[in-house]
Amino acid sequence: MSNHLDTLLQEQRLFEPSQSFRQQANFSDPSIYDRASENPEEYWAEQATYLDWFEPYESVCEWDPPHAKWFVNGKLNAAYNCVDRHVRKGKKNKVAIFWEGEPGDSRAITYGMLQKEVDVAARMLQSLGVKKGDRVTIYLPMIPELPISLLACAKIGAVHSVVFGGFSAKALRERILDADSKVLITADAGYRRGKPIPLKANADEAVVDTPIEKVLVVERFGKDAGIEMKENRDIYWAELAAKVSREPLAAEPMDAEDILYLLYTSGTTGKPKGIVHTTGGYLVGANTSLRSVFDLKDDDVFFCTADIGWVTGHTYIVYGPLSAGSTVVMYEGSPDYPGRDRFWDICEKYGATILYTAPTSIRMFMKWGPEYVKQHDLSSLRLLGSVGEPINPEAWMWYHEHIGQGRCPIVDTWWQTETGCAMIAPLPGLVATKPGSATKPLPGIFADVVDEEGQPVEPGNGGYLVIRKPWPSMLRTVWGDDERFRNTYFGKFEGVYLPGDGAHKDKDGYIWILGRIDDVINVSGHRIGTAEVESAMVSHPSVAEAAVIGRSHEIKGQAITAFVTLREGVESSEDLVAELKQHVVEKIGAMARPEEIIFTAELPKTRSAKIMRRLLRDIAEGRVLGDTTTLADPSVVDELKSRYKESD
Ligand code: WT7
Repeated sequence: MSNHLDTLLQEQRLFEPSQSFRQQANFSDPSIYDRASENPEEYWAEQATYLDWFEPYESVCEWDPPHAKWFVNGKLNAAYNCVDRHVRKGKKNKVAIFWEGEPGDSRAITYGMLQKEVDVAARMLQSLGVKKGDRVTIYLPMIPELPISLLACAKIGAVHSVVFGGFSAKALRERILDADSKVLITADAGYRRGKPIPLKANADEAVVDTPIEKVLVVERFGKDAGIEMKENRDIYWAELAAKVSREPLAAEPMDAEDILYLLYTSGTTGKPKGIVHTTGGYLVGANTSLRSVFDLKDDDVFFCTADIGWVTGHTYIVYGPLSAGSTVVMYEGSPDYPGRDRFWDICEKYGATILYTAPTSIRMFMKWGPEYVKQHDLSSLRLLGSVGEPINPEAWMWYHEHIGQGRCPIVDTWWQTETGCAMIAPLPGLVATKPGSATKPLPGIFADVVDEEGQPVEPGNGGYLVIRKPWPSMLRTVWGDDERFRNTYFGKFEGVYLPGDGAHKDKDGYIWILGRIDDVINVSGHRIGTAEVESAMVSHPSVAEAAVIGRSHEIKGQAITAFVTLREGVESSEDLVAELKQHVVEKIGAMARPEEIIFTAELPKTRSAKIMRRLLRDIAEGRVLGDTTTLADPSVVDELKSRYKESD
């Protein structure tokens, strides 16, 4: 990581917006920054006019730190804003979603079709007893029923909780229990490189002894999935769809502060946090960022490569682009199936104008080489986005040259599950970009870099990234644990939001995100708590103690290294390494599989018995060791160093 930082902070290149881009940009008046910072409520009120409200709000924001309310007493419905209103306003035959299945099947779903399918799905949920405020857990692959399920929940005021299809049965179960959901929507199986991911089998394991009463099953894979349907509990989507009324369904008027969804994310403890997003503010934030950061126009085709199981997909496949009446491209599978040109094939086929992807993918494309890109006509692209982790300047330049063909501005967007939408990113018609910097806070966002006392750092220095004032799409709390919300995000600086990232501010005031400052690691843009992996590790009968760190990795950004001490009498072996890795996969999911496991007789600890993670990182990254004088038993380090070499 430190080498990476050095190159980041020496980056001098500056890319000014082109004249032609600037002229057509939605946000083209630089005074917007000053206007929004002088009067943020006025700015957000103006953005709120891009939504349809059933009843107007009475005040823009009420801030009682750490709790904010936005668009107080306003009434609206997210599904109405994403679907119905577009049908009413003449977009019935406009494509809302170009869906591309991994095996090559595809669907073009118009707003008119989407409306019908959302209403049917909403009625299906009602027939299963789902009411306003109830939670519905959704564990689906990237198929049309996924966005349809989100919108169906929103239409009737149910709260969705999407669990990424890569999570294990145990992780799904934990999230079902925490959310207290009565209904689960899943599929027989999902496709990954042509093979089935056994979603239904995982779901069967997950729902035992939980409040889940009904499991709605989409048939995606068919007979080969070999699933079992449990009587009185499981029902096929198509079967139930055939039973409900086809009449249009009126959208439930929701209070702006009613919960739209929960989305679980990792924190510093072993327990994931259910991030709570509400209706009005979230939708205003999502919608605004499409118009500002992504310069979205009516004829754009927006291809976001994220999975809807993560917040990026929630905001930039579903609620953002659809609330703007846009056309999105949604792809089910792997970027290298059947060939390494799949994304470029999709861009060409649908004429994607905006591409939003992650640095880890870009680094993979770099490694594969530009020949796969060259096989396709990418001239429709006009804007590129990056999200998930700091983008290294090399990857930025490659993205710029080979995908953007030197023509497309790149928006590096910093944000989090908690923030709901992009927070630090360039307005592409106004802000010159620097490879590796997310540039400046968006209008109406009061992000800054501060020192230990909470004072802004001088340009040229680093510190904590903070957000000083509330914003519409901020999380409202942690589901069932307001104390944790308060401590995690507002515990360090009074009334100031702490995202948990370190950052550097350069002499031009540009912000460079340096990465997490807590025990959270970022593997391929996925946030994983070291404590979660550690508790998975120690739940294995052979393991006495485990310390997990993220070390820098060429493609993934960070990779998981686990240092493990074994119980008395257990011998280390290659088989045990494989078994422990598999154990973590079963507890959490494949994205948490440790890259390497290092057995050691002891873990390096301070005299107060704290595991020295920084030291472990130094060992894993092969750096010269820093100060180890606080170490209780310095010989541990020598042992570890030799162990690490052995495992190479
Ligand atoms: C963490 C949030 C936002 C959707 C994807 C991840 C890191 C995210 C950037 C960026 C540097 C970034 C931060 C943040 N991160 N985007 N453009 N530059 N770092 O959402 O799982 O909630 O993770 O991802 O560390 O805190 P998430």
